[in-house]
Amino acid sequence: MRTLSQALAEATAALSDAAVASPANDARLIAAHLLGVDTMQLFLRGGDPVPGGFAEMVARRVRREPLQHILGVAPFGPLDLVVGPGVFIPRPETEVLADWAVHGLADIARPQVVDLCTGSGALAAYVATERPDARVAAVEKQPSALDYARRNLPQWVELVAGDVTDPAILPQWQGKCDLVVSNPPYVPETPELDPEVYQDPPEAVFAGASGMDVIVAMTETISRLLAAGGRFGVEHDDATSAEVQEVFADHGAFGDIAVLHDLTGRARFVTGSKL
Ligand SMILES: C[S@@+](CC[C@H](N)C(=O)[O-])C[C@H]1O[C@@H](n2cnc3c(N)ncnc32)[C@H](O)[C@@H]1O
Repeated sequence: MRTLSQALAEATAALSDAAVASPANDARLIAAHLLGVDTMQLFLRGGDPVPGGFAEMVARRVRREPLQHILGVAPFGPLDLVVGPGVFIPRPETEVLADWAVHGLADIARPQVVDLCTGSGALAAYVATERPDARVAAVEKQPSALDYARRNLPQWVELVAGDVTDPAILPQWQGKCDLVVSNPPYVPETPELDPEVYQDPPEAVFAGASGMDVIVAMTETISRLLAAGGRFGVEHDDATSAEVQEVFADHGAFGDIAVLHDLTGRARFVTGSKL
């Protein structure tokens, strides 16, 4: 009988040959998913038979299908979000923005929070989970992403189909928000991106040649939504920190503009507050 540890070793070699970034980890995550166990528990089950479907899932990953599409879920902080083709896969670095958001709300009772470009609902779902007393709205324009967001968000979160570059969006929230968070499309159109990036919908990733189009157009929306003293946090490409700071500084409605770094020390978020 072929054992689980043999299959894991073979899968790791195949994934490594396909230049998958974390071959052993991906092989273990597939096996753990099929067995319904934690990856740590696999170490006790090396002599077990190989779970059904393992070879097929590994073959899909060898073809560079994103692991999250194969498993149908993506972890985001304490959450497992439903994902698949047609929605952006939440990335671990965005959890830094989510944590920043929740910490900034600590002293505000029943905060009002808007997530612009919600995609799967990641940031809104995180805030809603940590702060069930909050009033939360989430805006997304792609119908396919809205379908996933509806599945991931509690019913009480107001999910709005709309364009975040329309400053008149969410009229009933204008001037009332304590916090606006956003992970918009921002990747500059450069060659040699990881193949997995192309599995995300292009409108979730790219925003003009510089990657700045949605961020620039969104500043007026953020300005109108925030109450005086309300804060914003926006994720951006690691090449555009200076430009994003400048856009918010030049707008005129914002102060306290600051840089937030991801866990590898890269400047990936700009924060600030409404004057
Ligand atoms: C980078 S994804 C981020 C999704 C989610 N916030 C996350 O962190 O996983 C950007 C999302 O913005 C949406 N989007 C792009 N342009 C938009 C616009 N003008 N108005 C509303 N949503 C937009 C895309 O469809 C995509 O779902």
